[in-house]
Amino acid sequence: MTLWLGSMCTVVISSNEVAREMFKNHDVVLAGRKIYEAMKGDIGNEGSLITAQYGPHWRMLRRLCTAEFFVTSRLDATVDVRAKCIDQMVKYIEAAGGSGANGIDVGKFFFLLAFNLIGNLMFSKDLLDPSSERGAKFFYHAGKVMEYAGKPNIADFLPLLKWLDPQGIRRSTQYHVKRAFDIAGLYLKERIIESNGDETDHPSPEKRRRDYLDVLLHYRGESAEEPPEFSPTTINIIVFEMFTAGTDTTTSTLEWATAELLRSPKTLEKVQAELRSVISLGTKLEEKHLDNLPYLKAVVKETLRLHPPLPFLVPHMAMDSCKMLGYHIPKETQILVNVWAIGRDPKTWENPLEFKPERFLEPSTADFKGHHFEFIPFGSGRRICPAVPLASRVLPMALGSILHLFDWSLADGIKPEELDMGERMGITLRKAVPLKAIPVPLQG
Ligand code: HEM
Repeated sequence: MTLWLGSMCTVVISSNEVAREMFKNHDVVLAGRKIYEAMKGDIGNEGSLITAQYGPHWRMLRRLCTAEFFVTSRLDATVDVRAKCIDQMVKYIEAAGGSGANGIDVGKFFFLLAFNLIGNLMFSKDLLDPSSERGAKFFYHAGKVMEYAGKPNIADFLPLLKWLDPQGIRRSTQYHVKRAFDIAGLYLKERIIESNGDETDHPSPEKRRRDYLDVLLHYRGESAEEPPEFSPTTINIIVFEMFTAGTDTTTSTLEWATAELLRSPKTLEKVQAELRSVISLGTKLEEKHLDNLPYLKAVVKETLRLHPPLPFLVPHMAMDSCKMLGYHIPKETQILVNVWAIGRDPKTWENPLEFKPERFLEPSTADFKGHHFEFIPFGSGRRICPAVPLASRVLPMALGSILHLFDWSLADGIKPEELDMGERMGITLRKAVPLKAIPVPLQG
C-alpha cells in the first residue's frame, strides 16, 4: 500500500510474502533510514547506529555492536550482571508489596530492570539505585525524549513547516537529549579520571569487568573509513541510543506478556507448572535453565507476535529508486513493515487473535531471528535488531523469575476477561492502561 502523508511518500508492507521479497531481494537499497525532525538537532547523528544511513559508517558501528556488545562470549561473561539486575527488580517488587487491592504498576518494575541492566552493561553502574539523584535525572530526561520523539509531528509531513517546528517537538526532544547527554558526559568524565589514575572512587578496568564504555573509550579505527577514535559526543550518542533502543522495547514486551497471562489463568498455571518442574520453589531461575523451559520461551514469542513493541519496525527508507514486485518505489520513500499485521494475518495464523503459546512449541515453528517472515518482531536482513541475543536471554529470564517467585492476580478486583488490552503508540506500542497486579511471594 502506498500512502502520501503530506509530502512524504510511504509504502506499507503488510504481508509476509512482500516482507520476504523486501528482505531477500531489496535489502540493501531499502536499508536506509527515514530521519524524523525530532531526531535532528545540534548534536547531530554522528554516532548513531539507529539513524545512520546504510554505508561504511553504519557498518563500523554495527560491527562494534555485534562483535563487542552482543557477541555470545560477552553475553556469557555478563550473566551475573543480568542476574543481579533481575534480583534487584524482585527486591523492589517485594518492597512495593502490593498485597493491598491496589497492586503495583508492573511496567514500572520492568522498566527499572531494563534501565539498570543497560546502565550496568554500559557503565557498570546502577543508575536507578534509589540513592542516585543523577541516575533519576537521566531516567527522567531519557523518558521525555522517548515521549516527544514518539509523537506524530506535522513538520515531518509538511516540510515547509520544518523551520517553525509547530508542535515544538524538535525543540523539546533536543532539550531533553541535551540534558541526558550532560549527565552521560559526567559518567564519561569519571571514567577518564579513573584511567588517569585517581581510583579512590573508581576501580580500574583491571579490578572490574570491561564494560561497554571501556570498549568505546579504547576503540581505535583501523581503516581510512573509520574514525581514529570516538569523540565524547559520539560516545554519548551511542550510550544514549542503547537506552532508547533497549528500555521501552523490553518493558513493553514484559508488560504485555504479564497482561496476557493474567487474562488467561490456564496459560499462567501452565507456565508456572513448567517452571516448578525445572526449579524448586525458593530456588532462583538461572539462564542455564532456559533450555528446559520451552513453554516459557513460547509465551515470550507469542507475546512478540501479538504485541511487537515496534509495530512498523524502525522506519526504513529507499536509498535509491527500485522496482519491487512490479511496483516503482521512488528514492527516499519511507518503508514501514507492518509486523503487527503480519503477526495477526489469518492466512498464516490459526485464530490469530488468541494468545496461544502452544503454537510455538512445534519444532518447525518460527523463531524471531529474521528468517521466518511471518514472525519478524526484531526485523530481518541487515538492519535486524543487533540485540536479539541479549533480548532472547533477558525476556524469558525476567518473566520467568517474577512468575516463579510470585503468584499474581489482577488489582482492583478486575476479572481476567475485563482486563483492558487497548494499545497506545509512542516510540513503542505500549499498553494504554498500565497493568496493575498484586504479587504474592511464593515460599520454597
Ligand atoms: C523486546 C526487545 C527488542 C525488540 C522487539 C527490538 C526490536 C527492534 C527492531 C524491530 C529494530 C529495527 C529493525 C529494522 O529497522 O528493520 C531494532 C533495532 C535496533 N535495536 Fe532492538 N529490539 C529489542 C531490544 C533491544 C535492546 C535491548 C537493544 C540494546 C541494548 C536494542 C538495540 C537496537 C539497535 C541499536 C537497533 C538499530 C539497528 C540498526 O539500525 O542497524 N534493541 N530493534
